[in-house]
Amino acid sequence: MKDKLIIFDTTLRDGEQSPGASMTRDEKVRIAKALERMKVDVIEAGFPAASAGDFEAVEAVARAIKNSTVCGLARALDKDIDKAGAALKDAKSARIHTFIATSPIHMKMKLQMQPDQVIEYAVRAVKRARQYTDNVEFSPEDAGRSEEDFLCRILEAVIDAGASTLNIPDTVGYSLPEQFGATIANLIKRIPNSDKAVFSVHCHNDLGLAVANSLSAVMNGARQVECTINGLGERAGNASLEEVVMAVRTRQDMFTCDTTLDAREIMTCSRLVSSITGFPVQPNKAIVGANAFAHESGIHQDGVLKSRETYEIMRAEDVGWAANRMVMGKHSGRNAFKSRMTELGFEFTSEEELNDAFFRFKQLADKKHEIFDEDLQALITEVSFHAEDEYVKLIALSVCSETGEVPHAKVTLRVDNKELTGSATGSGAVDASLKAIESVVNTKAILELYSVNNITNGTDAQGEVTVRLDKAGRIVNGLGADTDIVIASAKAYINAVNKLHVPNQRRHPQKGDV
Ligand code: KIV
Ligand code: ZN
Repeated sequence: MKDKLIIFDTTLRDGEQSPGASMTRDEKVRIAKALERMKVDVIEAGFPAASAGDFEAVEAVARAIKNSTVCGLARALDKDIDKAGAALKDAKSARIHTFIATSPIHMKMKLQMQPDQVIEYAVRAVKRARQYTDNVEFSPEDAGRSEEDFLCRILEAVIDAGASTLNIPDTVGYSLPEQFGATIANLIKRIPNSDKAVFSVHCHNDLGLAVANSLSAVMNGARQVECTINGLGERAGNASLEEVVMAVRTRQDMFTCDTTLDAREIMTCSRLVSSITGFPVQPNKAIVGANAFAHESGIHQDGVLKSRETYEIMRAEDVGWAANRMVMGKHSGRNAFKSRMTELGFEFTSEEELNDAFFRFKQLADKKHEIFDEDLQALITEVSFHAEDEYVKLIALSVCSETGEVPHAKVTLRVDNKELTGSATGSGAVDASLKAIESVVNTKAILELYSVNNITNGTDAQGEVTVRLDKAGRIVNGLGADTDIVIASAKAYINAVNKLHVPNQRRHPQKGDV
């Protein structure tokens, strides 16, 4: 019987710390439900003390999830722990995750505390968290650059205080696999009461080693990995859930533990997170990239046709790539549409929402006769930005782009129930369209990113456009999909403008915050 490797997903907390990846409460609940369906063990839903929005999101996830443990992050401060306890009060299974920095540089420069004081804070925080739940996790932040002797002292003390999970974060992604694995083995060996806690790891990807470091830790006794869908996360991101899980599963000959995750849900989760956050998945990304199972060279194709194991170490369908990907078409009915959307993790909250989505589906099916799961996912993103949140709505766009002429666009928008028109020239059709929109909405935001991805193959495929706007340090991502990429771009820009218009959307510190 192998040990269980606990999968702790922090897409909704650390993943959300990627600039522009902030999610609304409802988006978090949708992702949490998809993670629950995938049988993630622990879902870190947010940082309740960070903002009122974050508190509400953790509370909503705690109420919606029944089969995974829901976790809230808290600094080692009474007020943070109390907020986390309150946000999690309705959870069927709740965990409080408290942390304080332990590296010499963090203790001296950031906390301005003596090491003994840091231990006092940690112990007090764990004891306070135990008043809300028996399931308490402690992290010595920046453990990757902390002294091993000090880690042993603080970890022994927090186990005595009631922590049952000890998470060792490589906060700045500084560790190397062999060294990080050895640290985990040493901590387990040296801490006298280490058998009373599960050792966990949380690796950042600054040197591209987050997954390697996590796996090395698992080989040395860690039994929980903290990770995110698509490797989303602060700076270069966290260890990617799909890579950790599939490495452990594919190389069972090397591991004495396994996860109980349903890997067939990986693709659905990956697409959902990508479309909600507006962070596209690079085509060559392991497991979930569009090319992850595509064989280009003739020699490889020939080998795979004769025996797939010649060049494939995993089966695409085992991680949720459907073998027959054409799912719906123009003649598909409302029930078929609804049930496929449910399978993809989207539950309609009203008849009106279903009707609106079905109408958009029919419009798309008129333009594109084969509708794939990816198209439906893109549709979900449009539908989930509810009509009442649409302060700006696209009514019409006409663009003129001719060889030898300066591209020109004219747009009509409904802004706060008034129809307004604007026009502009630009270096291309997209540039002119976005400038025409900006001439009406006048956000004065800086366009930080513009990217186009084709959702499926072929020239009739939908283009999915991501636009990132920065308005005085507040960063939002807008997403739009359409078979016409100029219209997709306009939709994405308007989506971002609408997000800027919604007050108090901040879920975590953004650029410029301390
Ligand atoms: O990277 C980190 O150290 C964290 C902690 C809060 C666990 O995210
Ligand atoms: Zn982190």
